[in-house]
Amino acid sequence: LEASQQLKLLTGKRVLITAGPTFEAIDAARGITNLSSGKMGYAIAKAALEMGADVTLVSGQTPLLPPYGAEVIKVTSAQQMLNAVMANLTQKDIFIAVAAVADYYVLNPSEQKIKKDAHILTLELAPNPDILANVMNLPEPPFCVGFAAESENLLEYAEHKRRKKNLPLLAANLIQDGFGGDENELVLLDDKGTHPLPRASKLTLARQLLRHVANMLPKSST
Ligand code: CTP
Ligand code: CA
Repeated sequence: LEASQQLKLLTGKRVLITAGPTFEAIDAARGITNLSSGKMGYAIAKAALEMGADVTLVSGQTPLLPPYGAEVIKVTSAQQMLNAVMANLTQKDIFIAVAAVADYYVLNPSEQKIKKDAHILTLELAPNPDILANVMNLPEPPFCVGFAAESENLLEYAEHKRRKKNLPLLAANLIQDGFGGDENELVLLDDKGTHPLPRASKLTLARQLLRHVANMLPKSST
């Protein structure tokens, strides 16, 4: 559907979206990050705005221009992303975790740039908080959507992830050479089964995903 034909299926809904990579400092000039362009999360923000939603976008570092009308909170690390999400979650109806969050952070980052020498450098990594799990564990969580990028066994790993995280809906895609591109191919997994969304632009997929979400929302609410 073109933007002009989009039904305003999310009018009155407040949506919080995480997007892009997180970055964990090693020293003043270096860090650990994930491959993520942010394009899928930004496309979902744009599609949600088209559908009438109120959109807050918590974004890791990307050069993308945020869609007009979104409230944007820029963050760097996973801990900052968690803080921004938790501080902006009140009254949200929908949480969509699209960000590629670093699973670990560097325990003692150096304030100064580390000088090279001929020895092996050992970094100590500690696990980052799971932002989506923190949201799901709230007493009254919003409707939560997870993403899973897998390099193999897509459906098996994705359904396992959905059940482990107790998510009503998860969008899965295979990591291919297309990382950072404008197109993708998704499979939606919910309690009813799997719903493939064939290769299309990220904006088209975002609209399809949000229509699926709108159909799953409790009908009685405002
Ligand atoms: N996620 C998150 N916070 C984290 C890690 C992941 O919010 N610290 C979210 C992602 O945004 C995504 C979902 O959880 O929506 C799944 O992320 P993924 O990395 O695929 O799953 P993990 O549980 O981290 O498992 P693994 O990386 O080992 O596959
Ligand atoms: Ca992970």
